[in-house]
Amino acid sequence: MSDTGKTIVNSWNEWDPLRHVIVGRADDCHIPAEEPALDAKVPEDSDMRGQWGRRPQETIDRANELLNNFASQLEKRGIRVDRPTSIDHSVPVETPDFSTESQFGCMPPRDVLLTVGSEMLEATMSYRCRWFEYLNYRPLMQKYFEEDPKFRHESAPKPRLTDADYHPDYLSEKIGVEKRLKWTAEKFFVTTEEEPLFDAADVLRFGRDLVVQHGFTTNLKGIEWLRRHFPDHRVHAVNFPGDPYPIHIDATFTPLRPGLILNNPQRRLPDEQREMFQKNDWQIVDSAQPAHNAPPPLCYSSTWLSMNVLVLDPKTVCVEKSEVYQAEQMDKLGMEVVEVDLRDAYAFGGGLHCCTADVYREGVCEDYFP
Ligand code: ARG
Repeated sequence: MSDTGKTIVNSWNEWDPLRHVIVGRADDCHIPAEEPALDAKVPEDSDMRGQWGRRPQETIDRANELLNNFASQLEKRGIRVDRPTSIDHSVPVETPDFSTESQFGCMPPRDVLLTVGSEMLEATMSYRCRWFEYLNYRPLMQKYFEEDPKFRHESAPKPRLTDADYHPDYLSEKIGVEKRLKWTAEKFFVTTEEEPLFDAADVLRFGRDLVVQHGFTTNLKGIEWLRRHFPDHRVHAVNFPGDPYPIHIDATFTPLRPGLILNNPQRRLPDEQREMFQKNDWQIVDSAQPAHNAPPPLCYSSTWLSMNVLVLDPKTVCVEKSEVYQAEQMDKLGMEVVEVDLRDAYAFGGGLHCCTADVYREGVCEDYFP
C-alpha cells in the first residue's frame, strides 16, 4: 500500500509487518456435494458427512459478523483490508471432464491465493467444487492490476480433475484412522500424480524458501510445478506423519518470526526434514494444546486451528479468543497477543491465517537458510 492509497502487492513471508490483507466472507458458502475424494478429506466422525447444500443462514450471518469485526480490528491497527465479491455458489459447474452440484464459498482466501513478492498466484485447487473459487477474488485482482504497475496476476494451469486424480483405495466410506495414519506415513495420499495439484494453503513463505506440504490437496507434481514457476526460490516438500487428513499446512507448522516455528505436537516434522532449520539455528517448538476437545458443528478442520494464527509483525500475533493455552504460549515466547473472536466462523474453512490472504507486508526477499 502506498501513501496515495493505491495498491502495491508485496509479501515474502508470514511475519513481516502486515499493511494490506484480504479477509474472506461467509456469504453463500456451501457444504460440498458428493465428489471423488471428498469423503476421504472429511474426518470420519464429522457431523458433515452425508450433508450438503447451502449452510444455514444464521451460521452465515454469525460468521460474517465475526469476519467483519476481525476486519475492523485490523483496520483500527492501520492495516488496509479488502473483501472478496461473492459469486453465486449454488450454481452447478460443468466442465468437459466433470460436473458438481454446487460450489464452495469465498472462505478461506488463503487456500486459493498465494502471494510471493509482487505476484498473486491462483492455485490449481484440488476439489471440483472449488475449481471456480478464484472468481470471488477477480474484482480485487483487476483493481490491483490497474493500481500497481508491478503486480503480476498469475493463474496455475486448471486441472482436469477426472477420476484419475484420485486413488480409488481412499474412496471407500470408512478407512479407519489407523490405516490413514499408516498411509500418511508412507506418503500414500488420496490424490494421484496424474497432473499438478496444489492449494495455496499448503505453502509457507520464508523469503527465498517456500515450504510446501505434500498431502491430500497438493501432490508432488504440484510442488514441481511451483519449483519451475518460482525459479529464484528453493522449494521444499515436507510431510507430517501423524495427520490422518493432511490438508493445508497452517494448523501444523506456523512460523512466528525469523528463527521460530510452532509445530503441532501430533504432527511432527520428520528429523531429516528439520535439517535446513537446525543448520540455521531456527527453533521448532511444540505448539500449546488447543482449548477445545472438538471442533464446532459442521467444521472440516480439527481443534488445531488453535495454532492457525495470523502474525501482524515479528512481535505481534492474532490468536483466537478462546484459545487460552495458545495465547499463554505466545506470551511466553515474547509475542504481544491480539485476541480475535472467530470460533463461530471456523466451520467456513478455518482460523485466522486461513481466512486471510496477504497483499502487502513490509520487507524484501531475504535468505534465511544460506
Ligand atoms: N487441516 C487442518 C486441520 O484440521 C486445517 C487447515 C485449515 N487451513 C486452511 N488454510 N483452510 O488441522
